Amino acid sequence: MLDNSIWPAKDYSRVPFRLYHDQEVYDLERERIWRGPLWSFLGLEAEVPKIGDFRTSFIGDIPVVYNRGDDGKVYGFVNRCAHRGSTVRREAYGNAADHTCIYHRWCYDKKGGLIGVPFRRGVKGQGGLDPAFDQAQHGLETIRIESWHGILFATFSDKVEPLEQYLGGPMSNMLARIMARPVKVLGYQRQRIKGNWKLYCENTRDQYHGSLLHQFHMKFGITRVTQKGGAWMDTRHRHSISYTREDTDAQDSAQAIAAYADQKVAESDFQLKDQGILGYKQEFDDGVSLAICSIFPNGTFQQIRNSMAARQVRPRGMDEFELYWTIFGYEGDDEELEMHRLLQTNMIGPAGFISMEDGEAVEIAHRATMLEGEACSIIEMGGGGKIPDEITFKVSDVPLRGFWSYYAELMGIEPEGGIR
Ligand code: FES
Ligand SMILES: [Fe+2]
Repeated sequence: MLDNSIWPAKDYSRVPFRLYHDQEVYDLERERIWRGPLWSFLGLEAEVPKIGDFRTSFIGDIPVVYNRGDDGKVYGFVNRCAHRGSTVRREAYGNAADHTCIYHRWCYDKKGGLIGVPFRRGVKGQGGLDPAFDQAQHGLETIRIESWHGILFATFSDKVEPLEQYLGGPMSNMLARIMARPVKVLGYQRQRIKGNWKLYCENTRDQYHGSLLHQFHMKFGITRVTQKGGAWMDTRHRHSISYTREDTDAQDSAQAIAAYADQKVAESDFQLKDQGILGYKQEFDDGVSLAICSIFPNGTFQQIRNSMAARQVRPRGMDEFELYWTIFGYEGDDEELEMHRLLQTNMIGPAGFISMEDGEAVEIAHRATMLEGEACSIIEMGGGGKIPDEITFKVSDVPLRGFWSYYAELMGIEPEGGIR
């Protein structure tokens, strides 16, 4: 039985491994998180600019389609035929006036309404549907979609708070900053990671690992614990923005690296033959050169220097998820800047100089915690107790406790006297 006695610490500084490995937990997440009173990251408006443009996506493990309707608004529905449950749209994207299931050709409009059933009246008076069958009642299950500066979010719930309020001040501002110019999608990357989806939500909120796991970060000064940075959270601590300010560590980068050597964690002497990938063209006037924006439950928006991307977590059961990367720049980027963004894309994705290690870290944590449900992790870097809205240092995993506190609320398993 899953109940609120599961937490060994009231401030979420201990997370039982069972939460990654229990089918009961996963099933409850489908109901209370993916279909719960919150907004999930779906995609970008820039991906469906014209009427009839559609893309397939996921809310948790639930397949969905979003498309631009005849009135210019974006509509969405579950990608599962009302007839016998087949996938209606099998393509990743396209443009279509309507959506026809390949199995028996039931046809749906852009809002998911059922508009055609072949041989509905049968043949020569035999077969077909009962005349009382009401087509209007048998469309696809719809989702509600709203846009925040061109970022699409979706919900199944009619009890959800307004999107801007859900995102909270810091995240809504940061996303507006990233989306201030019209976006141009440059490409996609996909990868399967054999681990529970929540391990990745923790990973993107965890600044502590940033320059320890990722030697590239540390060595080339993309983010180091010696730089100015920290995390901004909403008052409910659902979301987290980890940030680093450019050029704020020791004057001499050798001195900054020495700080790591003192901890006996890094003395790497590898070098890049071509330093081009490190280049940084300042595009924002706040000095933030790295921002990892983790949006509960499934979205991450990143600015790593000039590399911009959205990431969507798509669970595939308890033990695996797909990570879907949408790489973008802006309309109006000149060719040189666009090429630079693509060059910096080599840092991310399944084989990225930085991101490759996150996939591995999730997998080794998942594997080693299986069948260890009673054991738990320690999340105490940056202190325990009440969770602050802002952290001004980088040796911290405080936002992970924020993630778990909101998770516990949604799942109905908040400990008595829980501290958040
Ligand atoms: S399952 Fe889609 S038309 Fe039959
Ligand atoms: Fe990482």
